[in-house]
Amino acid sequence: MARVYEAIPIAEGFYWVGAVDWGLRDFHGYATHRGTTYNSYLMTTPSGRNVVFDGVKEPFVDVMLSRIASVVDPASVDTVVSNHAEMDHSGGLPRLCAALSPSRILASQAGVKNLSMQLEGFSGVTAVGDGEVVDLGGEQAVFMETRMLHWPDSMFSYLPSRRILVSQDAFGMHLASAELFAHRVDRALLREEAGRYYANILMPYSRLVTALLSKVASAGLTLDVIAPDHGPVWVEGREPGPSFITGLYAEWAAQKPTRKAVVSFDTMWKSTETMALAIAEGLEAGGATSVVLPLHGSHRSDVAYELLEAGALLLGTPTINNNLFPTVADLVAYLRGLRRQNLVGAAFGSHGWSGEGVRQLSAAMAEMKIDLLHPGLSVQFRPDGSALSACRELGAATAARLAAGEA
Ligand code: FEO
Repeated sequence: MARVYEAIPIAEGFYWVGAVDWGLRDFHGYATHRGTTYNSYLMTTPSGRNVVFDGVKEPFVDVMLSRIASVVDPASVDTVVSNHAEMDHSGGLPRLCAALSPSRILASQAGVKNLSMQLEGFSGVTAVGDGEVVDLGGEQAVFMETRMLHWPDSMFSYLPSRRILVSQDAFGMHLASAELFAHRVDRALLREEAGRYYANILMPYSRLVTALLSKVASAGLTLDVIAPDHGPVWVEGREPGPSFITGLYAEWAAQKPTRKAVVSFDTMWKSTETMALAIAEGLEAGGATSVVLPLHGSHRSDVAYELLEAGALLLGTPTINNNLFPTVADLVAYLRGLRRQNLVGAAFGSHGWSGEGVRQLSAAMAEMKIDLLHPGLSVQFRPDGSALSACRELGAATAARLAAGEA
């Protein structure tokens, strides 16, 4: 194979050998507006028994092999570490392992189980335990289980002599970039894309994120480099560096409500939309910030992102054939899984005759543990002056509640 792609050095003997997926716009239901990267890392060792951390999505295996070959003979790779067995990292492992013939693949206990279903016929998959120290060709690695961050098999690899943490999905983002290092990327862009990633992938596991950050702090790990499996690499001594992203994670994991309210809805004949705009006016008049996201122009994952730093969710739906509007039902199913905590909110909407939509939406929001400030603001046909006043009052009451929560 002609060598087209080069490895990028990160530290002495440690290289990025991943792939950039510029065209990805959907990651299992999450709109990836700026593509992504699948990060893999090559560590060369004094013994010449070299190590690869994590694989790439299957169509990018040749890119990865080309980058490895720019540094070492691919046949010298003795160990593959699989920190996470989701297909964007493990999907390429069968082809990668066929090409490299490593003597072993290291994974967590749950990772071994998952890989046994993905790597048919490969017998060298070995489990490493939480805190286990393993010799990798003369270099030590410490493995740290991070169960449910965000899969049962997830783990971190820490390289003490280099103070490098390979953190799989954690501290990553879906951002295709020609720049590998975070300190060469716009800070606001990093914050936005890391936030989108956290909201859409890690938000349900926020309590575990808080516990993990404490575990890393109490283990006294010095982090010169955080090398995630997606997006830029964080380097200590550069800004933004590792403390930027760990600080954001601590903030997001706390899920503290703010004075921002998200108003999201769909509409058939603009009546529910008119209600949404009146609610937003009430929010602003009451001193809250409102973000209005019509579902005919906003993706479900954009709503999830806006909720990351919000305190209220107001959802609007028309009633169609005795049900929620389909885009609203889609959003509810998505947000239910993301389990954002500490929200207040309410359902609202217009209907022509039966009006089940708002009742169903209120019930779904209560099930999501959203503290409902109204049983469901429902209007038949077009909202008149008094209905719009009720919408503004709902917005103002929500703003007052958010302000009280901040006091
Ligand atoms: Fe990047 Fe959970 O896979």
